[in-house]
Amino acid sequence: MSTRDFDEHSITQAVVERFADTPDPRLKLVLQSLVRHAHDFVRDVDLSMDEWLAAVMFLTRTGQISDDKRQEFILLSDTLGISMLVDAINHRQPEGATETTVLGPFYVQNPPELRSGADISGGEEGTPLHVTAIVTSPGGTPLSAAQVDVWQSDDDGFYDVQRPEIEGANLRARFRADEDGRISFWTIVPKFYPIPADGPVGDMLAATKRHPYRPAHIHFMIAAEGYETLVTHLFVDNDPYLDSDAVFGVKQSLIVTLDEHEGGEAPQGRSMAGAWTSLEHHFGLKPQR
Ligand code: BEZ
Ligand code: FE
Repeated sequence: MSTRDFDEHSITQAVVERFADTPDPRLKLVLQSLVRHAHDFVRDVDLSMDEWLAAVMFLTRTGQISDDKRQEFILLSDTLGISMLVDAINHRQPEGATETTVLGPFYVQNPPELRSGADISGGEEGTPLHVTAIVTSPGGTPLSAAQVDVWQSDDDGFYDVQRPEIEGANLRARFRADEDGRISFWTIVPKFYPIPADGPVGDMLAATKRHPYRPAHIHFMIAAEGYETLVTHLFVDNDPYLDSDAVFGVKQSLIVTLDEHEGGEAPQGRSMAGAWTSLEHHFGLKPQR
């Protein structure tokens, strides 16, 4: 084929062929497909020079606002539904295994290890919630010693890492399952919250009249030897944003109803003066291949 005078159609094949000698076959496949799809996209929308420059500046700002605490590219992927698409392709779950959803930016490595039954709320205001999680194989065998990391927002919709006045961890912890695969903890009912919207992703949401909210949820990351690490949430039912999650992470099987109680006796020998809630949920882990 000609090596000069490319037009708006012949340029695509020329670029694809320029990658022909890529030694890694997967890299070659991915890059050649990327070129074909990106070129088709540019032709499809008849991209103007101004729009191309605006896209370059948008991606530049996306990089500039990212650091070790903020990953605006992942947020962009989340809000374009790409994170959940990758999740769907990579986590086809067998019967009995809990569905997965996005990790999100607020996970902190190695949270404090607490004994089962502990209170992770750090005295935060909110409706008390007692959570019991039971971890098993898809067939129901308890996974004793499973490592269960949990993290969530407070009653105002903020994570500890978003509140500079909080020292150390709050509303996050690591638990170790007992011989029945069980852990439990006290916390407060989480609240819906906006994803970080003060950067280019927020600009995109505003320009397209999309809200930045995620429905209230508790994050779980559950690891056990011989099983794929499960990254998921439990969403609280009746949340106003369950059908418009800014990052498309809601799955019906992950929506739970909290049991409501009046005051009185509660787990871990507590005596409650006012209303409290509880939740028991079974998590199935997928065996490693
Ligand atoms: C989160 O649930 O923590 C989250 C997930 C994706 C983007 C922003 C936040
Ligand atoms: Fe979250």
